[in-house]
Amino acid sequence: MPRKTNFRPDYDEDYNDDYGDYDDYVGYDDKEHGLSTKGKTSQQDKALNKPVIWSCYICTYDNEQSFLSCEICGVLRDPSVASGKASDAKALAKPVFGATDEKNRTTKVKINDNISAALSDERQMDHSSASFAQAVQLNQTKGKNSKFNKNTLPSLTNDVDCLKIETNVIRKKEDSLDDSKPGTELLHDQEQGKQVQLNLAIVGHVDSGKSTLSGRLLHLLGRISNKEMHKYEKEAKEKGKGSFTYAWAMDESTEERERGVTMTVAVAYFNSKKYRVVLLDSPGHKDFVPNMISGAAQADAAVLVIDASVGSFEAGMEGSGFGQTREHAQLMRSFGVEQLIVAINKMDLVAYKKERFDFIKTQLGSFLRSCGFKESNVTWIPLSAMANQNLVTASSDARLSSWYRGLCLLDVIDSLQPPLRDVSKPLRLPICDVTKLHTLGMVAVSGKLEAGAVQIGSKVLVMPSGEFASVRSIERDSSACSTARAGDNVAVNLHGIDPIHLIPGGVLCHPDFPVAVAARLELKILVLDIKMPIIIGSPVEFHIHHVKEAARVVKIVSVVDQKTGKVSKGAPRVLKSKQNAIVEVELDGAVCVEEFTKCKALGRAFLRSSGNTIAVGIITRIFEQNA
Ligand code: GTP
Ligand code: MG
Repeated sequence: MPRKTNFRPDYDEDYNDDYGDYDDYVGYDDKEHGLSTKGKTSQQDKALNKPVIWSCYICTYDNEQSFLSCEICGVLRDPSVASGKASDAKALAKPVFGATDEKNRTTKVKINDNISAALSDERQMDHSSASFAQAVQLNQTKGKNSKFNKNTLPSLTNDVDCLKIETNVIRKKEDSLDDSKPGTELLHDQEQGKQVQLNLAIVGHVDSGKSTLSGRLLHLLGRISNKEMHKYEKEAKEKGKGSFTYAWAMDESTEERERGVTMTVAVAYFNSKKYRVVLLDSPGHKDFVPNMISGAAQADAAVLVIDASVGSFEAGMEGSGFGQTREHAQLMRSFGVEQLIVAINKMDLVAYKKERFDFIKTQLGSFLRSCGFKESNVTWIPLSAMANQNLVTASSDARLSSWYRGLCLLDVIDSLQPPLRDVSKPLRLPICDVTKLHTLGMVAVSGKLEAGAVQIGSKVLVMPSGEFASVRSIERDSSACSTARAGDNVAVNLHGIDPIHLIPGGVLCHPDFPVAVAARLELKILVLDIKMPIIIGSPVEFHIHHVKEAARVVKIVSVVDQKTGKVSKGAPRVLKSKQNAIVEVELDGAVCVEEFTKCKALGRAFLRSSGNTIAVGIITRIFEQNA
């Protein structure tokens, strides 16, 4: 069973369908659900009473003074990381949050609303066999992700400035961490002889068959039982949606099923010979690209699903207004995804003709090259999810097997190169979702660890609030584990923190190495195919990891020559399609960010306008107060 996730409580604001229901969740009573401040205080007290001597910079375990290396992970004690730094970080980060009380109240309502929604959905689930992750129906709310009230911005920037100055001091230590040697506990799974986790995004134009493909794979690999599949089939047929049987396994919400459209990313797991695959089934509809961005931003590799039928492939490649085949491919490349499987699906509808496959390969191939995908990193595979051709075994249909001798999809997944992980850097876990499972009294955040590692008992700094929390348990692939490392997609259950401090777009950090929080940034961007030129003052939606924030282009610094990387024009008045440029953007609210050179996942941004992605970019500079 997949875990349905809305990485972002959001969809494009231009979406004019009636989704007002999303705002109708009832409130949530903290006391009633065991979240009284009293309880938390005593937990915090307990944490404070624990003798903290020195905190491991990798797993954050509090070791005794006499230990020269971390008791848990074996990493050598860094003499420059003295005790007390955590409290410094907290003191610095605290004022930032203090300035945001107004917004926090709003956030609290939203989180509580989401919790109620999650709980009501949860009640409908069978708890007898479901694991925690399976039981969690994550929040589905419409709303802006602005973290801070505009009125509080001046004082916020002051505080951010204080934070940044100190952060820079702290970061000098981070730089020195690059040479650190991780302990055995923290080695890559591969080095330990275990299966590596691979985050695989399933993307592509609407209705290309992503959910059908995902559901079918899970069924073939035994992750969805025959009994469950019969149930889906019966239900789908009753609703007159028989062809969506496999998609129903992924599209769990009533609305998704009724409309036959995926709206939020579904997360599911399966094992191949080489990988523990985390499958991220993304929505293809244009209006849900923001959800797709947030989910697919975690991908190590992607399957781009193409509908081979005549007219459908062409619709996905439409230039103006962007067919989502183009937009998704472009986005995946800018997320840093290099390895791409192009699954040319619905081959049954074109009688498995080689000519159609070759035509699509030629057309799409040149576009993928223009996005920056190397030919050697792109694998092309014809298949039919519906007819089960070429998924986990070679095709049994002679019309396909007569000309296609390559690998089936499962083997192609196994042929991908294992992703590189930043295990030896300080913890960075951008928060995708916040969930409270009231039956167990726990607060969980889920997301992909982008750097470092975390384990049960670790203390973490939650940004931008600057609050601390302790890790109570960790779930990976729907099962409990004691340690999670960079690259792992996990649900981390926290205690010692009020849920209002946990928001999607926040980041769990190592206590000594807080992530930056900023509202003005310099970006190096590539302008995509745009109808309206970008000018100073252009309003944009700024997207970064799991946050969307209203922003404006406040300065166009220069146009950069794509080939030489040198400035070709200083301070131009407009930016047009296909230009590379350095720009400065001002956000309505501050967000957690990193310079791209320090952390790729927190340093990649997207600018969108009127429902289209207009530029992809990387953060080259984070501005301090009044810069
Ligand atoms: P979104 O998530 O909304 O973008 O759609 P999707 O890409 O997940 O497509 P979905 O799996 O919902 O399938 C859309 C339709 O295509 C359904 O009616 C499926 O039955 C049909 N479909 C999917 N794969 C195949 C295939 O291999 N052959 C045929 N003939 N139909 C298919
Ligand atoms: Mg779908």
